[in-house]
Amino acid sequence: MSYHVPVLYNECLDNLAVKKGATYFDGTLGGAGHSEGILMRGGNLIATDLDKDAIANAKVRLAKPEYEGKFTLVRDNYKNFINILDSLGVDKIDGALLDLGISSHQIDEPERGFSYRFDGRLDMRMSDEQPLSAYDVVNTYSEEKLADILYLYAEERFSRRIARNVVNARKNKPIETTLELAEIVKQSVPMQAQKNGHPAKKTFQAIRIEVNGELSGLDEVIEDIISRLNSGSRLCIITFHSLEDRIVKKAFALHSTDCICDKKLPICICGHKASVKSLGKIKPTKEELENNSRSASATLRIIEKI
Ligand SMILES: C[S@@+](CC[C@H](N)C(=O)[O-])C[C@H]1O[C@@H](n2cnc3c(N)ncnc32)[C@H](O)[C@@H]1O
Repeated sequence: MSYHVPVLYNECLDNLAVKKGATYFDGTLGGAGHSEGILMRGGNLIATDLDKDAIANAKVRLAKPEYEGKFTLVRDNYKNFINILDSLGVDKIDGALLDLGISSHQIDEPERGFSYRFDGRLDMRMSDEQPLSAYDVVNTYSEEKLADILYLYAEERFSRRIARNVVNARKNKPIETTLELAEIVKQSVPMQAQKNGHPAKKTFQAIRIEVNGELSGLDEVIEDIISRLNSGSRLCIITFHSLEDRIVKKAFALHSTDCICDKKLPICICGHKASVKSLGKIKPTKEELENNSRSASATLRIIEKI
């Protein structure tokens, strides 16, 4: 089985406008599909992933004579972008990509504990060096905190009911596996609300976001990447749910706007200048949607450094 089928592959690479010998940052290496695309088009690559499986897989996938000396793989959080570039002695780059969320490999490996479809110990950590796991969230967070996470990170309508049932269930014994949690969620969601996909989908999304701190610091890293892009270079970000898309959309709007003063002020006092221009957003084609159901919720947003 393939590690991960890259989403919006051509759209991303075409928009990065990869040039021979120029340097690109892929913060979310995953199965190295987009990363290899950059190398195939003649670019040099710096890629990060928190997951040791992604790094190991990419080392094998990219071990081709034509890529030798053209890529650097770093097991790190892309939020350390500035430090990573500095430690490599790289000042500016010619394009960057973030393909947010998790890979098919992470979902499809039961022991990673990301999926409500396969039985595995509740884990959901992108990196096995992270201290917090899904087990800790499910078994130690208060009912109120759990409900807040489900509501904030997945807009789960039945957040309070699910949190109450989780806390009741763990009074007898800890909730250890993905299927135990999925069953508790299923029992908490009314039958008529179970028609649109698996009832545990939102709960698993919310817990995964909490475990990996997926939404925190996203706007900061966007600012960091923009600050190190050469003029005319682009940043492409693929999002998979409305919460992360909202953060990206807002950050892109901020950096592509001159004055950000209160509209009521007669003159500008902020002096803010746009550092990028927006090149809009792209959704998967009908053909991609038919071939890869995991692309269904993807949105690619693009900005270009002025
Ligand atoms: C959707 S996959 C990327 C797929 C990739 N574009 C491809 O073509 O195969 C997302 C990857 O980003 C990694 N990831 C998510 N958040 C990260 C972070 N903050 N720092 C580094 N890697 C991260 C995940 O471990 C996962 O492997």
